Formats: sequence, C-alpha cells, structure tokens
Amino acid sequence: MVVNATGYTAVDRAEGDRQGAELLNAVAVAALAEASAMVGAVFVHCSTDYVFDGTRSQGWGEHDTPNPLSVYGCSKLRGEEQVQSIAEQYPGWRWYIVRTSRLFGDPGRSESAKRPFLASIFARAETQDRIEVIDADMASPTYVDDLARAIAELVLARVASGIYHRTNDGACTWYGFARSALARVGWKGVVLPIPPSQYARPAPRPAYSVLRTTKLPPLRPWESALQEYLAMSPSALQLRSLQVR
Ligand SMILES: NC(=O)c1ccc[n+]([C@@H]2O[C@H](COP(=O)([O-])OP(=O)(O)OC[C@H]3O[C@@H](n4cnc5c(N)ncnc54)[C@H](OP(=O)(O)O)[C@@H]3O)[C@@H](O)[C@H]2O)c1
Repeated sequence: MVVNATGYTAVDRAEGDRQGAELLNAVAVAALAEASAMVGAVFVHCSTDYVFDGTRSQGWGEHDTPNPLSVYGCSKLRGEEQVQSIAEQYPGWRWYIVRTSRLFGDPGRSESAKRPFLASIFARAETQDRIEVIDADMASPTYVDDLARAIAELVLARVASGIYHRTNDGACTWYGFARSALARVGWKGVVLPIPPSQYARPAPRPAYSVLRTTKLPPLRPWESALQEYLAMSPSALQLRSLQVR
C-alpha cells in the first residue's frame, strides 16, 4: 500500500511557480501511481477541496465537477486525472483519491513543511491580546489522526476504487476555527474577524469548499476532534499554561 501525502502545498507560492506545482502534484503522482499499479500495491492519493471553485453553498459531493481557481488547485486536479488515467490501463488495481481539507494535527518532523495555521495563531496569541483573522473560506477542518484512520478503514474495508471525501463534519471560516481553538485553551484576548480584502493572498481561494461525503458515513464533528488534539498539542499546552499564570 502506498499513501501519497506529499504535495506542493504552498498555495500562494504556486501562483508564480506553475511548473514546480505541476511536477510535484501531477508528474510525481503519475510516477507513484504507475509504480504502484505495476506491483499491485493499493494507491491512496491525498487531494483537496481546492479542486472546486466554491461558488455553491450546498457543498461538493464526490461526483461534482471540479473547477479549480488557483494554480495549486489545477495541479492537484491534474494529479487526480493522472491516477484515473493510469487506472484505465490497469484493470483491477485498487486506488483511492481522498479529498480532504484544512488539516490540523501534529506537524511531524519535516523541515520543509509549512508552519501549521494553529501553531501560528497560538504563537501570535502568546504575545498579543488582540489578533485579526480572515473571516472567509468556509471549509471543514480535519484532524490528521482522523484522516489517517479513515484512510486505513477505506483500504481495510476494500471499498470500491474511486474518489472519496474524508473530512471532519461541519465547517467554519479561518476566523471561526481560530476563535474556537483559542477559546478552548482559555485564551483571554480578543479575536477580530477581518475581510479577505485586508490580507494579501496571491492565490484565489474557494469561498465555500465544504466536501460532502456521499459514499461513506461522515467522520466526527471537527469541534470534538479539535478538543482531542488540543489536549496534547505542545503549542496549545504552552498557551494554556500562560493563561493560568
Ligand atoms: N494542509 C491542508 O490543509 C490540506 C488540505 C487539503 C489537501 N491537502 C493535501 O494533503 C497532503 C498533505 O498536505 P500537508 O499540508 O500535510 O503538506 P505539507 O505539510 O506541506 O507536507 C508536504 C510534504 O511533501 C513532501 N515533499 C515536498 N516536496 C517533495 C519532493 N520534491 N519530494 C518528496 N517529498 C516532497 C515534504 O516531505 P519532507 O520535507 O518531510 O521530505 C512535505 O513534508 C498534500 O497532498 C495536500 O495537497 C492538504
């Protein structure tokens, strides 16, 4: 079994580096998928809600037509297409495209991975009593532990090859996510919602990219997953200890 969780995930940087995004999010995916198919390994590929344009408020099911807005989203869609076209050449091969969104959890030990959103929010909250966060981009936060378990379940249950949406249930904006996390660690400052126009972001984002699961039962609500994660996150524990002093 091969799980591809790599990605050119710097969404804004990708706008000026189409080739780099394409190489990692599509060309490399094709190579990994083909190698997996050749040896008969199950292939799981992580994809994204950013393949949709976010123009509908009822969310996006697995069968809806993607229409990415950004270079990152286009390159991830190309990666999905590569997996599907290799599947046509290898009948019986098991493959899963798992679209997910707004990941949070243990950031791991990678030097190159970007700083997670919650870690940045907690770092700001340590030194400021008022922080501004964009109140836009409705999506479903997803705990990486829940995603990993969901992927294992897909594979072990031997469900049919195809595209699956796996996120925690429910949705919020970046502001809603930050406010919920800071309240849960007892932060006493103020979180202020700001419109996206006040924050320069080169890549366009989908306004409403909630992924609906039409093939499998939903995962637990994001709030309960967040509660569990914050109980052991070092940056959350540090901020919590500063609040009780
Ligand atoms: N983060 C999200 O909110 C989100 C939402 C939807 C979908 N996704 C998808 O989920 C997957 C994981 O996202 P993430 O946020 O965990 O990504 P991430 O933190 O940016 O990590 C990506 C990893 O890809 C590896 N990588 C980068 N360039 C590579 C290269 N040239 N060769 C080999 N490995 C390379 C790096 O591994 P090392 O540096 O450790 O070697 C890095 O740790 C991606 O496919 C992403 O598109 C993420």
